[in-house]
Amino acid sequence: MSAFVKLEHVSKAFDVSPPWLNRVLERKPRVFLHAVSDVSFEIRRGETLALVGESGCGKSTVARLIVGLYKATSGRITIDGQDMRSADDTSEAARALRRRVQMIFQDPYASLNPRWRVADIIAEPIRTHRLITDRAAIERRVAELLGCVKLTAKDGEKYPHQFSGGQRQRISIARALASNPEFLICDEPTSALDVSVQAQVLNLMRDLQREMGLTYLFISHNLQVVHHVSDRIGVMYLGRLVEIGDKRQVFGAPEHPYTRMLLDAIPDLKMTGKARTPVAGEVPNPLDPPPGCAFNPRCPRVFEPCTRERPELLPAHGREVACHAVTRMARAG
Ligand SMILES: Nc1ncnc2c1ncn2[C@@H]1O[C@H](COP(=O)(O)OP(=O)(O)OP(=O)(O)O)[C@@H](O)[C@H]1O
Ligand SMILES: [Mg+2]
Repeated sequence: MSAFVKLEHVSKAFDVSPPWLNRVLERKPRVFLHAVSDVSFEIRRGETLALVGESGCGKSTVARLIVGLYKATSGRITIDGQDMRSADDTSEAARALRRRVQMIFQDPYASLNPRWRVADIIAEPIRTHRLITDRAAIERRVAELLGCVKLTAKDGEKYPHQFSGGQRQRISIARALASNPEFLICDEPTSALDVSVQAQVLNLMRDLQREMGLTYLFISHNLQVVHHVSDRIGVMYLGRLVEIGDKRQVFGAPEHPYTRMLLDAIPDLKMTGKARTPVAGEVPNPLDPPPGCAFNPRCPRVFEPCTRERPELLPAHGREVACHAVTRMARAG
């Protein structure tokens, strides 16, 4: 199957330089933070790719690059063969592409306008994209969307604050679905919710995916959630993809020492009674990353090339891994 979403060598650097006057007077240099470096991956139609990794590794930046909220410093992003760079112009093609990609955020409080009735919140994308123009037909469509997320047409009369956190996230999902998207980017969609509510929302999202054939990019730092929802997993460390592959491969037999470290820290998914090992060490300062492999200061398998040479993401054991130890062993064996 061909790729529906494709990132090719995508990088994003933020200019975090001190203000101009300070640079001149104090002779401070320009400073760039490389939030995402040379990231390439594909998502097939109808599948869920999850991105995981500790805070600050660049997950949300990847999401924002894909929806066009940020411009990539270099590299290329295409959705169904169309370049996302065209999405910021006002052409009909750009509008059509934006309709097909929607984002769901962690905090439904912040993303729903508190002064609007829920029905108007959900109808907004329908009006913006002029999908339906007849008032009564819009009303019927909004009622249908509320039904899709297990709310009632009457709920449309209320305001966001009259709902619980889980219900509010359902409202965000209904709004995202209003433009008939094909691809949803979910950035920590359930992290703010109670565990029991999380499961309901995740199951709802999975059912909607099946019914509507949606493609998901799912971002979470919770590996148990990721295990539940995804088909493939991409592990990020300091702006780079370090391992990507099928869920069964990556969870069942993690190759990258960082993936292993993350998995060792969570309660055993297979309930074998294996003890947990907390994640050791800290993520380095992104403004001053270590030379070679950025993971080398924390890595239990560090050896000579790791501090010198950055490992490339290469095929190994049925997935792709960026690790000298792994790829060298794979080549030797
Ligand atoms: N607008 C910005 N300007 C400057 N730096 C930024 C900006 N957005 C993100 N960063 C930096 O880029 C890096 C990646 O951030 P990002 O938010 O993508 O990480 P994340 O993996 O989503 O983390 P979290 O799990 O905490 O949400 C971090 O070092 C962050 O401080
Ligand atoms: Mg984030």
